[in-house]
Amino acid sequence: MENLEVINITKTFSLSKKQQRIEKTKTKLKVAVKELSFTAYPGEIYGLLGPNGAGKTTTLRSIATLIKPDTGEIKVGDASTLKDPNGVRAKIGFLTSELKLEEHFSPNYLFTYFARLHGIVEEKIEERKEILFKKFGIDKFSEVKVGELSTGMKQKTSIAISLVHDPDYVIFDEPTNGLDVLTARSVTDYLEELKNAGKVVIVSTHILSVVEKLCDRVGIIIDGEMKVNDTINKVKSLDETGNLENVFFNLVEEAAQLRGEF
Ligand SMILES: Nc1ncnc2c1ncn2[C@@H]1O[C@H](COP(=O)(O)OP(=O)(O)O)[C@@H](O)[C@H]1O
Ligand SMILES: [Mg+2]
Repeated sequence: MENLEVINITKTFSLSKKQQRIEKTKTKLKVAVKELSFTAYPGEIYGLLGPNGAGKTTTLRSIATLIKPDTGEIKVGDASTLKDPNGVRAKIGFLTSELKLEEHFSPNYLFTYFARLHGIVEEKIEERKEILFKKFGIDKFSEVKVGELSTGMKQKTSIAISLVHDPDYVIFDEPTNGLDVLTARSVTDYLEELKNAGKVVIVSTHILSVVEKLCDRVGIIIDGEMKVNDTINKVKSLDETGNLENVFFNLVEEAAQLRGEF
């Protein structure tokens, strides 16, 4: 397994009139991510931590080749998002709350559907399905329409489907958002299993405790910029209290000062 490298990516969106109103700005362009770089290593969980609107989802969508950064590139092992986006897609599993499962279909049907899209052979599909459905307790609900499942079971189904091709690189955008503690725990336990299997795992979150419990390395992103990027212990030691929350608030405050809000 090789590193996943995000190399100096910048992504600018043009805002519609309505978005300009919502964002309370008169500028047409929004720099969502600015000259951002980091490396995630096999056998580690990398956490991208930042407040809402910081640019986490934009970064992860760039890795997943769903959007193309204006500049920079991402290397997933030997595949580059610029030269071989299909190679990148084959290697990664991507989970995002922005992609909703079609409510009318069952987990069983959807799993098979996405597995076939990935070109997985039929026997292998059933084998993967059995493992993942059992792992997440989806087996009892495999024929229930997604629309009738609980939030937690929907999320677990999304996770199982994102891992259908047994990817070596797992990219999860806010994986525990809106989940009850037990479901959240089963998700983070599974991410640890993937880490222990030597995979490269990247999660985004705005929740400090997720980073503290789960991540080996953390990048703190604010206003599209990487403010700190290091092992969790090094990052904590940036404040004399050794408390991640204090480090985070110091950085948020500094950023507000830079914007002239204080
Ligand atoms: N498709 C888009 N069009 C315009 N602006 C966008 C688009 N996607 C994201 N943005 C803006 O870019 C910024 C970063 O968004 P995002 O990456 O979703 O942040 P996060 O995931 O950290 O909450 C926000 O200001 C958001 O409004
Ligand atoms: Mg987001």
